[in-house]
Amino acid sequence: MSELLYIKDLKVYFNTEEGVVKALAGVNFEIVKGSFHGLIGETGCGKSVTGLSILKLLDNNALIEGGEIIYKDENLLDKTEKQMQKDFRGNEIAMIFQDPGSSLNPVFTIQDQIQESVKMYKKASKQEYRNIVIEELKKVKLPDVEGLLDKYPHQLSGGMKQRVMIAMMLACNPNLLIADEPTTALDVSIQAQFLQVLKNLKDKFDMTVLYITHDLAVVSEICDYVSVMYAGRIVENVPVRELFKNPVHPYSYKLVHSVLGVKTFLEDLEEIPGSVPRLIDPPSGCRFHPRCEEAIDICKTKVPQLKKIGKNHYVACHRR
Ligand SMILES: Nc1ncnc2c1ncn2[C@@H]1O[C@H](COP(=O)(O)OP(=O)(O)OP(=O)(O)O)[C@@H](O)[C@H]1O
Ligand code: SF4
Ligand SMILES: [Mg+2]
Repeated sequence: MSELLYIKDLKVYFNTEEGVVKALAGVNFEIVKGSFHGLIGETGCGKSVTGLSILKLLDNNALIEGGEIIYKDENLLDKTEKQMQKDFRGNEIAMIFQDPGSSLNPVFTIQDQIQESVKMYKKASKQEYRNIVIEELKKVKLPDVEGLLDKYPHQLSGGMKQRVMIAMMLACNPNLLIADEPTTALDVSIQAQFLQVLKNLKDKFDMTVLYITHDLAVVSEICDYVSVMYAGRIVENVPVRELFKNPVHPYSYKLVHSVLGVKTFLEDLEEIPGSVPRLIDPPSGCRFHPRCEEAIDICKTKVPQLKKIGKNHYVACHRR
């Protein structure tokens, strides 16, 4: 088993008028080549910032305070913007963004945008490119594909834009696809189709996927491994079956037991008392301690580190 990417002690802060937001406070996980790796946690815990850090697409007020992001034995944090553009973004690592509007270029047609992705790995004639783009758009079940080719992003609905973006990213044929809540603007039947498309592509091209989501039903269906994130840290890295059979961290336990049966979305978790902490002045020690029924004195002062407790299973808790 080999990892394609590993993130070691990644710390990312943001300068804001109210103070420094300590968004990632030591993120640690690895992604096994060819796997579907889920990244879950409540809103604001740092999932998107983690994904954006991998591609070095963070906002201008971001500060990378420390850590490593090792992709195929190279630290991406040492790469220049030019190297990232030339050697990594698109053909090696592609991302489906949470907000589809922001990643489509308003001045290019749909045909041009997807063609740019295809050009990265394939030389073809104009007509061949057109046919490939049509095939890519068909994969994401867009209606009237040929009619879409000359349209601009603003002429499409939110759901259609998201599907175009998915097609664009899949057309890059990346080794690692980061999918950040890729199905939020899609209706349920299209979601199921999209997951099927992704699964097929993963198997066919041995693609690795980092799948960021709130939806535990999707996690249980498609993921091999899961990282559970809480307030800027990973609290448990776990094979998916173990997560649902034997969640070890108190937060993972609450997540899984709150959603079993009825609910699958993490927003619905009123069963976990308290709310997600502000990351400008996060709780000391274990950031979960104000909400944890099992907290003891040391939890308030000492940050628990990830410990190996089984095969591919790590947990960060003083009581485990
Ligand atoms: N440019 C920025 N400036 C200041 N704070 C930021 C910035 N970008 C992200 N943050 C903060 O970093 C933290 C993590 O945000 P992130 O977007 O990664 O959350 P998330 O887990 O993806 O949430 P969601 O599930 O809602 O998408 C949040 O507290 C957020 O407010
Ligand atoms: S370290 Fe302490 S507060 Fe944190 S999850 Fe474990 S028991 Fe709860
Ligand atoms: Mg997000």
